[in-house]
Amino acid sequence: MTRCLAALSASLVLSHAPIVAAQTFPSRPMVMVVPFAAGGPTDTLGRIMAERLGRALGGTMVVENTVGAAGSIGVGRVARAVPDGHTIGIGHWSTHVVNGAIYNLQYDLLKDFDPVAQIASNPQLLVSKNAVPARDLRELVAWVKANQDKVTVGTAGVGAASHVSGVYFQTATASRLQFVPYKGTGPALVDLMAGHIDLMFDQASNALPHVRAGKLRPYAVTAKSRIPAAPDVPTVDEAGLPGLYIAVWHALWLPRGAPREVVMKLNGAVVEALADPAVRKRLADMGQEIPAREQQTPEALGAWHRAEIEKWWPIIRAAGIKGE
Ligand code: MLT
Repeated sequence: MTRCLAALSASLVLSHAPIVAAQTFPSRPMVMVVPFAAGGPTDTLGRIMAERLGRALGGTMVVENTVGAAGSIGVGRVARAVPDGHTIGIGHWSTHVVNGAIYNLQYDLLKDFDPVAQIASNPQLLVSKNAVPARDLRELVAWVKANQDKVTVGTAGVGAASHVSGVYFQTATASRLQFVPYKGTGPALVDLMAGHIDLMFDQASNALPHVRAGKLRPYAVTAKSRIPAAPDVPTVDEAGLPGLYIAVWHALWLPRGAPREVVMKLNGAVVEALADPAVRKRLADMGQEIPAREQQTPEALGAWHRAEIEKWWPIIRAAGIKGE
């Protein structure tokens, strides 16, 4: 009888655990792990979301930059965290798709994370320091070819979008570039503006404020259509690098095993944040596109993530890109 009562009370505790977890969540400050350097595109988006999510959840969400190995160190930190909703990872097309094709990761990109929601997507801009003499993409390609092996390109590490696009550029233009890895495109962009490196493929959200300020020269956007935030910048098709379409979509994940109610509470906070006119305006000004409401569910992110892996792994492997 005592054993029966103990078993009954244990099962009651277990069956109520997720509800209790959701009711008390968040019970302490939450941490958003940004796997790239402060001041870059993932960090900027992460900070906008962390502030707004903290408010929506009635708590605080702090940003922690855990950087290195094209974002895989920070993503690994999330995979190993306690899955109670207090450690949230922000990642994107490179960290959660490309890295799986080229690195021997200590975690499984699909099995070790619970999807929360997709947040926003932006293409890249091909930009140079102002001292580069080229005025458009055709002149830039000629200048790169005339300076074979000397032209330096900043990246956020092997496999980062900034690197993959550069590899495509090399192949498409039969040129050779010198890639310079940084812990994120935030510090790389600072070096570009200072004239220490020549070129970058950087996310529109990071490059645009400096393009508008006249500190960088833009050549093309890696998308099929021009973007509303930079209507004067031609697409890669218009400029002469046809087909180089790379959209860097960002999303949030929890470590696998988070209570469903906690995932849904966080997802609800993301939906609230993405409906906030102030957040929408900030993201639109940065060239970020917010997914439609039906694409903001955990299930939609899970399906999209899997489809992106199936699409890109063969392409990345065929391009011969290898992690260090
Ligand atoms: C960053 O925040 O540095 C970027 O997301 C890196 C990248 O473009 O892959």
